[in-house]
Amino acid sequence: MIEVTLPGGEKIPAYGQGTWHMGENNRYAEEEEASLRLGIELGLTLIDTAEMYGNGVAEEIVARAAGKNRDKLFIVSKVLPYNASRKGAIEACERSLKRLKTDRIDLYLLHWRGSHPFAETLAAFDTLKRDGKIRHHGVSNFGLDDMKEWVGLGGGETVATNQILYNLTRRGPEYDLIPWCRQRGIPIMAYSPIEQGRMLGHKALAEIGVRHNATPAQVALAWLLHQDGMIVIPKARQLDHVRENRKAPDVTLTEDDLAALDRAFKPPNRRTPLGML
Ligand SMILES: NC(=O)c1ccc[n+]([C@@H]2O[C@H](COP(=O)([O-])OP(=O)(O)OC[C@H]3O[C@@H](n4cnc5c(N)ncnc54)[C@H](OP(=O)(O)O)[C@@H]3O)[C@@H](O)[C@H]2O)c1
Repeated sequence: MIEVTLPGGEKIPAYGQGTWHMGENNRYAEEEEASLRLGIELGLTLIDTAEMYGNGVAEEIVARAAGKNRDKLFIVSKVLPYNASRKGAIEACERSLKRLKTDRIDLYLLHWRGSHPFAETLAAFDTLKRDGKIRHHGVSNFGLDDMKEWVGLGGGETVATNQILYNLTRRGPEYDLIPWCRQRGIPIMAYSPIEQGRMLGHKALAEIGVRHNATPAQVALAWLLHQDGMIVIPKARQLDHVRENRKAPDVTLTEDDLAALDRAFKPPNRRTPLGML
């Protein structure tokens, strides 16, 4: 599996599985568990979840899918901004650990900026790290100004990722945020990498797909996966989607393909506010 290097030097998977909307409807819980388990079997061992997803139930589904394979996984979870106080973030993490049935979260993110001062959240993350409850900390939905503020705090420079909305139809972060992170060796984690399916009818993806015997989703995912320092986390409940997505790293886009994608999905020529779903 392709990898990225965290600022501290650890190599982690660059491709994994998302879990948003899992755990929201009991009817689908078994399917959701099965899709994550299949992904793990196929090598998609980075799993992104959050206390918010299914109000905690997504984390329980991750635990069931992991079973005895916990040590093979790199688990990412997130604290809600309302819980991100000095004390609240520690308690939220402990609840997540229980649901995840594990003793540590590999990467723990602030889900988005709220009203608690960054310094408090960071102090909580430091305590959690010291106690071995999280291995790395990171942030999510942070624009460039938020990143500068976080990294400027003592300990903030160890931030392991910024998880953001980034895909072919959301290229705004290429203007300044992604280059800024890349210069500092901070990987980007691209969420909603296929825009929750809405981009898949685009003609350019179909045309390029024909050249590679690939589907539109595989082309869109390959475009992200070919970028340095990029972690990609599509979510799929359907087993066929998991199998299809697993093959995306095998699609090698040519210079011509990349140019065609730039024509179809224009890169940004000015700073735009970071989108959020
Ligand atoms: N930090 C944040 O604020 C934030 C926000 C959004 C998302 N995220 C994370 O990023 C993950 C991915 O984002 P996302 O779930 O919003 O969107 P996504 O991964 O872009 O799209 C998921 C949707 O696409 C469908 N799909 C998956 N593979 C497909 C394929 N090969 N062909 C056709 N359709 C396919 C899925 O269907 P089925 O499920 O039916 O297979 C699902 O409806 C989330 O699950 C979550 O972990 C984080």
